[in-house]
Amino acid sequence: MDIPWWRDAVVYEIYVRSFADSSGDGVGDLAGVRERLPYLRDLGVDAVWLTPFYTSPMADGGYDVADHRDVDPLFGTLSDFEALVAAAHDHGLRVIVDIVPNHSSSAHPWFQAALRGEGRERYLFRDRTNNWKSTFGGSAWTRVEDGSYYLHLFAPEQPDFNWRNPEVHGEFLDILRFWLDRGVDGFRIDVAMGLYKAEGLPDIGDQSFKAVSPVWGQPEVHDVYRDWRRVLDGYPGERMAVGEVWTDSLEDLALYVRPDELHQSFNFAWLQAPWSAAAFRKVIDDTLSSVPFATWVLSNHDVVRHRTRYAADDPAAGPARAKAAVLTMLALPGSAYLYQGEELGLPEVTDLPDAARQDPIFYQSNGELPGRDGCRVPIPWTVDPPSHGFSPGAVPPWLPQPAAFAELSVEKQEGDAGSTLEFYRRALACRRDLVRSIPYTLEWLKSPEGVLFFTRGPLICALNCGDRPVRLPEHDEVLLASGPLRGDLLPPDTAAWLRRAS
Ligand code: GLC
Repeated sequence: MDIPWWRDAVVYEIYVRSFADSSGDGVGDLAGVRERLPYLRDLGVDAVWLTPFYTSPMADGGYDVADHRDVDPLFGTLSDFEALVAAAHDHGLRVIVDIVPNHSSSAHPWFQAALRGEGRERYLFRDRTNNWKSTFGGSAWTRVEDGSYYLHLFAPEQPDFNWRNPEVHGEFLDILRFWLDRGVDGFRIDVAMGLYKAEGLPDIGDQSFKAVSPVWGQPEVHDVYRDWRRVLDGYPGERMAVGEVWTDSLEDLALYVRPDELHQSFNFAWLQAPWSAAAFRKVIDDTLSSVPFATWVLSNHDVVRHRTRYAADDPAAGPARAKAAVLTMLALPGSAYLYQGEELGLPEVTDLPDAARQDPIFYQSNGELPGRDGCRVPIPWTVDPPSHGFSPGAVPPWLPQPAAFAELSVEKQEGDAGSTLEFYRRALACRRDLVRSIPYTLEWLKSPEGVLFFTRGPLICALNCGDRPVRLPEHDEVLLASGPLRGDLLPPDTAAWLRRAS
């Protein structure tokens, strides 16, 4: 069988608002992405995933889509998008775009019509509410003028579609074709376990919410992905789809990647695992035994950056652990998704002033939850303020960058062999050389407690999550390490790739 491109691909998530601003308004845009494509090619990734750039009032950073077939003026135009796809392909990079099928913006013409009483069955209007909560805090229901309520699992500006209405289904098939016709290589499907809600919208009872949720993971959703798969398969060039599927178990996750459904589904169990060899090993084993094609990820625009997550019990350990974790991830069978800025070792920005925050989670929780702005701070390209090269002009970026970003900027790290950026470049180049020649499978080698050793053909990956240096397994050559080795010893918070003694 030919191996599809996405099976081992390294995909780089671009949170468009925060990547690069070409227009000087302080917000990233598509032309900014295009200008930085050589950076991504040199980094050594295979594809980019662009977060939503569609027409939107930006109540949830663009995940509130008002027109699924156009580009918001904040991000550019449809021709900017077409130019970006063409340039990416010229650089050998594939392009994945985000599709948001669970809800629209309240500014979407369908919802505006619904408010006037037309076509309400495209959304979930009811005379009475149930006890469901919005993922962002507060009730999942908002009252409209005539006294009825509509369901929104996220912000009130994100009304949920009624997927039991075939018109919604048809509309999304058409939206997929619209972007496939413009050359996209795949889709990232937002809230892919949403879409259908249990018939009758029953209250969430005393029974475990997780086990029998009327909200998420209804069986009907799989027929949607079967239809989408047929559309994707109808286009040349191995077009693919990756689901944002939050589930409680990898068995549930596996349902979304059956051969006639989605190609990939993010493995959030890996992202949620604490800094622990035993926890990592369990997720790796469970993943490889439950899904046909593993899809690893450590950070994205919704979670605390992994450099900061891993530092919870030891603030100084974050940078080393983040590098060790990514080197381990890149050695695993399957595809890996990186999030912009992790290659610079960016930490979560935890001290944003309240007035600067934009995430609806912060507002809907009345400031109790910080929200996700801390992982969305614009990328520092150069050392100098005001925007560290993010914007061409003097307009401040849409979220303020901390002074520490100067030292972490691309300009500062490029060419410095000890930098995180150069480490990522070496790791991705080495992976590219190896990945197609080693088996998809993994074997564990005996290792001390707190340490993992696994092999894939001639490659050995060693990770030390313990607190003492350990002897490396027998090998011919050290290919790469996430930090300095001490002779034959692997220090704590360090990973290494070795070539195996033949
Ligand atoms: C997904 C997105 C997140 C967004 C939510 C609602 O989880 O990744 O950023 O807020 O869906 O669309």
